[in-house]
Amino acid sequence: MSECIKVLLSEKDVDARISELGRQISEDYAGRQVHLICVLKGGSFFMCELAKRITVPVSLDFMSVSSYGGNTESSGEILIKKDLDESIAGKDVLVVEDIVDSGRTLSCLLKLLLERKPSSLHLCTLLDKPERRVTDVNVDYTGFRIPDTFVVGYGLDYDQKYRNLPYIGVVEFND
Ligand code: IMP
Ligand code: MG
Repeated sequence: MSECIKVLLSEKDVDARISELGRQISEDYAGRQVHLICVLKGGSFFMCELAKRITVPVSLDFMSVSSYGGNTESSGEILIKKDLDESIAGKDVLVVEDIVDSGRTLSCLLKLLLERKPSSLHLCTLLDKPERRVTDVNVDYTGFRIPDTFVVGYGLDYDQKYRNLPYIGVVEFND
């Protein structure tokens, strides 16, 4: 079976939307420092582009989590593979994710981060698939709402491939 990638959101579309999000976040956090937490690996491309467009002071940290259990469906319990380097107590934290799908990983992660007493905790995702939601997650900033389809690029992978595509594409399989 071979696969090909069909462009869903061009590099230009993604770029323009990230600039808008950067402007919005800069306005909302005016007079404060925003502490971005990147959820590895998928969120990394988006976070770098977003951070460059935020005009208030920015600090960064990284976290890597995986869900327990099955590999296609997330289970709702997460395993911390790499924890944050710094405490988030008293900080204005903005979690930066590639995509919210079922919402299980994020709802679990946000609960865990909240216990660490940040001054505020918000969520920014490049993509959202609302039709797939199983667990409620409050998404504060969304790049694009997309239909229930498997996408790659801009940090998102299929079998660890395609993260480096500068656009968002849909994987199509041919046999
Ligand atoms: P959730 O717990 O189901 O919301 O899982 C979200 C995670 O699943 C994301 O952070 C991605 O790593 C992965 N994921 C969900 N949908 C896609 C997709 O369309 N392409 C690539 N990865 C995806
Ligand atoms: Mg992710």
